[in-house]
Amino acid sequence: MRKRWIGRFTIGFIPILGCLAFVLAQQDTQTENVDVASEMQASTVLDQTQPIAFPHSIHAGVDQIDCQYCHFSAERSVDAGIPPVSTCMDCHTVIGGSDEVQQAEIQKVRDYWTNQEPIPWVRIYKVADHVHFPHMRHVAANVDCTTCHGEVKEMDVIETVNQPLSMGWCVSCHVEQDVRRDCTVCHY
Ligand code: HEC
Ligand code: HEC
Ligand code: HEC
Ligand code: HEC
Ligand code: HEC
Repeated sequence: MRKRWIGRFTIGFIPILGCLAFVLAQQDTQTENVDVASEMQASTVLDQTQPIAFPHSIHAGVDQIDCQYCHFSAERSVDAGIPPVSTCMDCHTVIGGSDEVQQAEIQKVRDYWTNQEPIPWVRIYKVADHVHFPHMRHVAANVDCTTCHGEVKEMDVIETVNQPLSMGWCVSCHVEQDVRRDCTVCHY
């Protein structure tokens, strides 16, 4: 999936064309979308954690956008990273939402863009400062995102799994997979 997206850009298509493809693809899966949309209305009311009700279920689920299209530093850096507003605007310059709830949420994204302000997302997964967790090492070893974060594709709102991120959880997988586990591997 990531290759397909990158392919689109490198062969010279502008991101907007990709978005039109999404709009078209959605017409094929309209029934599915109706379900997701009504679920979203419920979760919009419930999700008071985040400044914008951002559904992974639509982006990574229905539209199958690769995790690393947005979390693009996961394979090369310690942090997976949260995408800047400009990544959202690859699509939301064109995609405005198909009902009032969506339109209101997407308008918020556009307002942050217009004001050139970062979206103040609330951080969910966080280990203590004395612990070193390198995403790129786990991605390189083919540990899937779902092993640690669960079925994110199906989540309207991120639900935490494996929380608290305890030492026992890290160490038991390192034992299973025969990875180094002396104290200094994880502690500064
Ligand atoms: C279209 C962009 C986009 C895609 C695709 C995407 N994400 Fe995200 N992700 C975000 C944004 C924005 C946030 C912050 C808002 C939130 O927590 O819901 C986030 C938050 C998260 C978090 C919580 C981070 C924290 O605060 O601790 C995890 C875990 C995560 N994403 C995993 C994934 C996985 C796994 C996939 C692929 C199945 C994925 N994401 C696909 C944009 C995206
Ligand atoms: C690759 C294209 C793409 C990217 C990148 C993208 N989106 Fe979306 N987004 C969509 C599509 C498609 C929909 C569904 C629109 C519809 O059903 O009419 C959507 C819907 C939404 C909705 C409405 C959800 C609801 O049901 O209320 C919000 C809010 C949203 N996106 C926020 C974001 C944010 C924030 C980012 C950046 C972190 C982002 N999007 C990045 C394609 C994208
Ligand atoms: C081995 C377990 C593990 C795997 C695999 C993993 N993560 Fe994480 N993730 C974590 C932990 C632990 C944290 C908290 C790290 C910290 O506080 O420094 C985290 C934090 C995050 C965050 C918060 C923001 C940030 O910059 O770190 C995002 C987003 C995220 N992960 C996305 C992903 C995605 C996408 C994948 C797959 C490409 C992935 N993770 C794979 C364990 C994992
Ligand atoms: C599901 C299994 C799994 C879990 C859970 C896990 N790890 Fe790992 N970890 C791995 C694998 C596999 C590697 C890659 C080893 C390699 O590169 O050969 C690794 C590598 C590392 C490395 C680099 C080791 C080195 O040799 O330099 C660190 C540091 C690390 N993990 C920290 C953590 C921390 C902290 C946690 C918990 C928050 C965690 N890991 C949870 C499987 C896991
Ligand atoms: C694979 C990674 C990993 C290894 C190896 C590891 N730790 Fe930890 N350790 C963690 C994580 C994750 C936490 C929990 C941090 C948190 O609560 O956010 C932790 C917490 C701790 C704490 C508790 C600190 C507090 O915040 O309460 C101590 C003390 C500690 N570790 C000591 C050690 C010692 C001593 C060793 C070597 C025998 C060791 N650790 C090896 C990952 C690791």
